[in-house]
Amino acid sequence: MKTTVINGSARSNGSTAYIITKILEGMNISKTDITSFCLGQTNIKYCLGCKNCYKTGKCNQHDDVDKIMQSIVESDLIVVGSPSYWGDITGQLKVFFDRNTPFSDTNENELKLKIPAGKKGLSVAVRAGKTERENIHIIESIEHYFGHLHITPIGKFSCTGIDTFEDLMKREDYIEKAFEYGKYLRTTM
Ligand SMILES: Cc1cc2nc3c(=O)[nH]c(=O)nc-3n(C[C@H](O)[C@H](O)[C@H](O)COP(=O)(O)O)c2cc1C
Repeated sequence: MKTTVINGSARSNGSTAYIITKILEGMNISKTDITSFCLGQTNIKYCLGCKNCYKTGKCNQHDDVDKIMQSIVESDLIVVGSPSYWGDITGQLKVFFDRNTPFSDTNENELKLKIPAGKKGLSVAVRAGKTERENIHIIESIEHYFGHLHITPIGKFSCTGIDTFEDLMKREDYIEKAFEYGKYLRTTM
């Protein structure tokens, strides 16, 4: 199954990346079918708010959004993960969502690059604090994004109490749970 991973973290080898990898291992998705983007290591400019995409169907700016969108177009599964930054998705993920305005169903321009129907979406949230509330908000933001691109949410995974990678390494239960969740998701697809 062709899969695009969009990790909103600044860190490509952090806890969000690790949990996503474990879920995809549980789903038995081949590494060669996975294209990953860690937004902290991409070049993505802010949306200019020009609404030119409403007129032309395209963004005037060209940067790493182009290759991420191409990967989404070619994928069956889109995984979006974010650590909590100030109780919300990371700034880099928000900027990426803003730049998806040319592809959103709020943009009715016939010329726009359409995301083909039938794609599935999986959301992942990781935070240091112990309660679920922030992660519920993060997952809602990611599913809001999926909704405007007509990507069907098929699952969500939340990790709390994970501040450092070492915290995660001590939580074998979470790592196992992520893998088992992937196995479960596979049976639903
Ligand atoms: C700028 C910044 C803001 C953060 N804000 C929060 C927060 O509001 N709530 C929380 O629970 N954790 C917060 N954290 C902790 C991260 O969510 C946590 O370290 C997470 O495990 C990082 O995931 P990563 O390794 O994938 O980057 C913050 C971390 C950073 C760097």
